[in-house]
Amino acid sequence: MTSDVILDKPPARLARVFSGIQPTGELHLGNYLGAVRTWREQVEAGTDETMFCVVDAHAITVPYDPKELRKNIDDLVLDLIACGVDPEKTTLFVQSDVREHMELAWYLASVTPMGDLSRMTQFKDKGEGKDFVSTGLFTYPVLMSADILLYKATIVPVGEDQVQHLELARETARRFNHRFVGKKQKPVFFEPKARLSATPRIMGLDGEGKMSKSKGNTIGLFEAPDSFWKKLSKAYTDPQRLKLSDPGRPEICNIFTMHKAMSPKETQDEVYVNCTEAKWGCVACKKVLFENFEKELIPLRTKREQLSVDKVRQAMGDGASKARRIAVETMKEVREVMGLGSLGT
Ligand code: TYM
Repeated sequence: MTSDVILDKPPARLARVFSGIQPTGELHLGNYLGAVRTWREQVEAGTDETMFCVVDAHAITVPYDPKELRKNIDDLVLDLIACGVDPEKTTLFVQSDVREHMELAWYLASVTPMGDLSRMTQFKDKGEGKDFVSTGLFTYPVLMSADILLYKATIVPVGEDQVQHLELARETARRFNHRFVGKKQKPVFFEPKARLSATPRIMGLDGEGKMSKSKGNTIGLFEAPDSFWKKLSKAYTDPQRLKLSDPGRPEICNIFTMHKAMSPKETQDEVYVNCTEAKWGCVACKKVLFENFEKELIPLRTKREQLSVDKVRQAMGDGASKARRIAVETMKEVREVMGLGSLGT
């Protein structure tokens, strides 16, 4: 008798989670609370297959210094690992180490209307008033669709500012399947869905729009505690709270939003009451928030100090090889249905 088990159906495919981040400067609280913390949770839960990518090819769409970029890539890899995006448990890699991203982006451009790209708010924000706007900045969302679709990812944990790009990726998957895959055939691409954290939009310290590296209104996740506090203590709150006796509006206050991510429920309730009843000033409220940040960030800082690029280089190579294995398979299908090439796949 044999003990082999014969499955009449293939086992259900695990969901594949994919996300990316640009190496354009220090990792900030918005990145962490909007995305990277969710990435760690996904990695730790271990229920889905996860892939995370440092998207260096996206970072070249605005003027940049090559030496700085190389350093930023290394730094960001270390930051992510310190945050718990552990290359032993997930696939962590650098985008340009897997050339298929760029190849697929070109092919997907053939099914992406220019009108859709010109409606992207990130393109308008980053391009407005600039002397030089690269073609790459315009076609940026096509490369982002390629990043996701290359791995047939179905879940994409991102902050709110990326939802419009995700919608385009979904539309691109539909357009590609419609154009190149017959109704009775298996679709090449799946429609990816955004997964938002409980705090998908962290505002900048100046209260002028979202926290963003390009606006210089950030607090770095690995910033030393004294400069962290200095910045937090001056952060914009409810503009109607001029005096201690003015009742505050937590629902419109960025500090309360961060309490929702960082503080236990009892503390959030306490903050709410003390703010709306004008019992606490904003500095007292920020102090409690700072303490809770410290509790979470001290172990991350310690881990970060122990890491060095040399120690993780091998892991990045392994991550790229793992990613490439999937990418090559997808590209075979893509070239086949698009009628490309003359040498077979
Ligand atoms: P990037 O590098 O600007 O940001 C990385 C992640 O951080 C989130 N984020 C925020 N969340 C909340 N509040 C904020 N103030 C805040 N600032 C940033 C972003 O939403 C993002 O999730 N285009 C992407 C990178 C990318 C990508 C991808 C993402 C390229 N290819 C494929 C997902 C899948 C970007 O510029 O993120």
